[in-house]
Amino acid sequence: MADLQWRPRYELGIPLIDEQHKRIFFLLSELMECVAGKRDRAQVSQVLANVMRQTREHFHTEETLMVQMGFPALEGHQEQHKKLMHGLHGLEVRFQEGDASMAMLVTTFLGGWLRHHINEGDRAYAEFLKAREAKSA
Ligand SMILES: [Fe+2]
Ligand SMILES: [Fe+2]
Repeated sequence: MADLQWRPRYELGIPLIDEQHKRIFFLLSELMECVAGKRDRAQVSQVLANVMRQTREHFHTEETLMVQMGFPALEGHQEQHKKLMHGLHGLEVRFQEGDASMAMLVTTFLGGWLRHHINEGDRAYAEFLKAREAKSA
């Protein structure tokens, strides 16, 4: 089963971002419990919609922050978000079309992506922000 726990090693030191990451992990484990507990389709669909909305909002928060701080690798990072949303959307559509197994696939797909992306992608802008703050202090 996928590891859907937020871990201290994912901490970036930006409270709003860390809270959003925790929230996505939480919603993913909720989704997994719903699927494993064989809850009805409407409930699974609801939690899946929450996962999608929270992820979309989180990317928007990060991209706004990166624009504000003049992060040089913004475009590449945005591209990673865009590709992920595209993949997630594809799974959501297949779920809506009747393939219930797609909900579980969302947990492994997004869970795995997040574990990698937070430390490989998000950490870069977090370090950039901290370095900038240290300079202006
Ligand atoms: Fe993130
Ligand atoms: Fe990101």
